[in-house]
Amino acid sequence: MSNNILSRLAKFNELIPSTVPFVEGKLKGHQDRKNYSIIGPGVSEDSKQNVKLAESHGFNIGAVSAAPMNGSGLHSHTTAEVFMIHSGSWRFYWGVNGEEGEVILNTGDVASFPTNMFRGFQNVSDEEALMFVALGEDDPGVITWTPKLLKEANDSGMLLMEDSSLVDLTKQNIPEGKFVTKPLEEKELQSFDHYTSDEIEKFVIRYEDNKNYVHDEHNNSNSIINYLDSFEIHGKKIDPQIPHNTGFGLSLLKGSSAHIHSYSIDSSEFYNCLNGQWEVTCDDEKVILDPHDSFSAPKKSTRSIKQISNDKGSLFIIRKSK
Ligand SMILES: [Fe+2]
Repeated sequence: MSNNILSRLAKFNELIPSTVPFVEGKLKGHQDRKNYSIIGPGVSEDSKQNVKLAESHGFNIGAVSAAPMNGSGLHSHTTAEVFMIHSGSWRFYWGVNGEEGEVILNTGDVASFPTNMFRGFQNVSDEEALMFVALGEDDPGVITWTPKLLKEANDSGMLLMEDSSLVDLTKQNIPEGKFVTKPLEEKELQSFDHYTSDEIEKFVIRYEDNKNYVHDEHNNSNSIINYLDSFEIHGKKIDPQIPHNTGFGLSLLKGSSAHIHSYSIDSSEFYNCLNGQWEVTCDDEKVILDPHDSFSAPKKSTRSIKQISNDKGSLFIIRKSK
């Protein structure tokens, strides 16, 4: 197997996480968490965050694991943020006080959160839980924290600089020429959007809900959920369930003998195993994906994929929009 292919395989157990990825990383409820950057740097504020594959894909992929009752504080994004739950139950809440609404997501569920709104999440199961996160564009920009969270983080000794780096005052002083990010003012908060729980639920697609699946009538093998953008499989196009224009397509392929025959597209493509075991063939080289493993097929390569375990398997597929 060539180094090129191996460098694009992200075995989950071999990834190196950041344990203080963001300014709120020392606060109760946020301190017992790991942040992984798999495709692109993501929005991590840790300048030492390890990135598995820096090549531009048109989107970023990361993962978050957290201990019970831990997760992210309230923050807003300027590009898409789409969550794919791999294990446990996660509570998402939003609004500047975190009280405008909430949804609970379980294993296999997907949610696409709009830009320009404050959202936070916590693991509400009784053991460590994992999810993957897709962010829009090659550069997903920086995140904006609520003023309350930024002040609490500052009180814990953690400062977010205007260049998006972190300063831990227990270990260092503010470097010369760097400036601390000021909390947003009341009037600046008015430009953020508001959503009810019913409105956000429309952007949540449940794994266990059979009505979300389309069957591509190809040997009765493939059940597909298409979340975002048009998905093409064996010459058939499937419409998305979520109307967000994220700049990338996201689909799930599920079945005991699920597969896609050989095809070639110009863009690179990201495969992420939720369950089962998958074989991805890419220009005559093969990789095996176990649960939580990921692989990026290089641009213009010829690919085929198949589910090879005895049980059913599910695979997320992410492609840059045309
Ligand atoms: Fe986020």
